[in-house]
Amino acid sequence: MAALRLQNLRKSFGGLPAISDVSLEVAPGERRLIIGPNGAGKTTLFNLVTGDLPRDAGNVILFEEDVTRLAPHHRVHRGLARTYQIITLFPKDTLEHNIALSLLGLSKLRWNAFRSFDADLYVEARAVLARVGLEHLAKRGIAEVAYGDKRRVEIAMALAQKPRVLLLDEPLAGLSREERATVKQLIAAIPREVTVVMIEHDMDTALDMAERITVLHYGRVIVEGTRAEVVADPKTREVYLGH
Ligand SMILES: Nc1ncnc2c1ncn2[C@@H]1O[C@H](COP(=O)(O)OP(=O)(O)OP(=O)(O)O)[C@@H](O)[C@H]1O
Ligand SMILES: [Mg+2]
Repeated sequence: MAALRLQNLRKSFGGLPAISDVSLEVAPGERRLIIGPNGAGKTTLFNLVTGDLPRDAGNVILFEEDVTRLAPHHRVHRGLARTYQIITLFPKDTLEHNIALSLLGLSKLRWNAFRSFDADLYVEARAVLARVGLEHLAKRGIAEVAYGDKRRVEIAMALAQKPRVLLLDEPLAGLSREERATVKQLIAAIPREVTVVMIEHDMDTALDMAERITVLHYGRVIVEGTRAEVVADPKTREVYLGH
């Protein structure tokens, strides 16, 4: 059984194909890396998986259930999660308040029901912070919180939804060396019950974290395999490394 199976997915924007006939299968518990140059279609692929964008053709199958025709929040309900940025409507307000706001948004997404903005959300917000060892930042103004710490909180929020499949789109982008190390550790500590599909631009990081790698180029899967197989394949060098 696959955790995630994509069958012949296609998506064009104004007649220009962004995803052309992509099929792939991710096993339960796997750590799959998706790499490829700018504009290869990586983020679009995630948007088709979550349903944030409608596909032109093909199917998305989550644990053997065809979810292609389900709205995004129904896919979330079936255990599909991606990271969303912390809502930062109130940059002068505390981290805890901003997380509570984001949780309110996520709970609507998940249960599609109104939930009052009450003390429970603050308890939950502090639990999210505690999980990544950042409880001491609860009362900090969001503007004073480091970028890397916000990234950790975003991942913790996605994990708080208890997903079965977690999609991470460049979780390390824009981080300092030290921040990357901490976020990498956090990702490495995600329990095996959660299947992780991660887009990563940096080849070295991708190689570091991957079990299997899929290389996308011009909206197509051009190489797929174990880390060693992908590195050894001349097509990887040609299209991704450019030499
Ligand atoms: N909503 C959209 N409307 C129109 N074109 C889009 C849209 N989203 C993506 N595209 C186009 O589809 C192609 C793939 O973009 P996508 O963002 O999926 O690439 P990517 O592999 O994630 O790139 P990057 O590494 O820069 O994040 C690009 O040519 C992009 O301009
Ligand atoms: Mg992208």
